[in-house]
Amino acid sequence: MTDKTAEAIKVKLLEGKRYSFCSCGLSKNLPYCDNAHREYNEKEGTDYKSLKIFPKEDTEVLVYSATWKR
Ligand code: FES
Repeated sequence: MTDKTAEAIKVKLLEGKRYSFCSCGLSKNLPYCDNAHREYNEKEGTDYKSLKIFPKEDTEVLVYSATWKR
């Protein structure tokens, strides 16, 4: 298994906020979802959805998806 830590994006998450991360790789605002998956799903019959995060406390995370081409 390859370590993708170097390609991950560090994101600060604040308690009580809602975060939506891209899983399809089409967002122009990575790592966040910009809803580009909706048009792609409709055209290609796929079922991409964003990953929703609701932090219970302020924290930092590393985010990475194999679908991201940066
Ligand atoms: S734009 Fe990629 S999951 Fe929404």
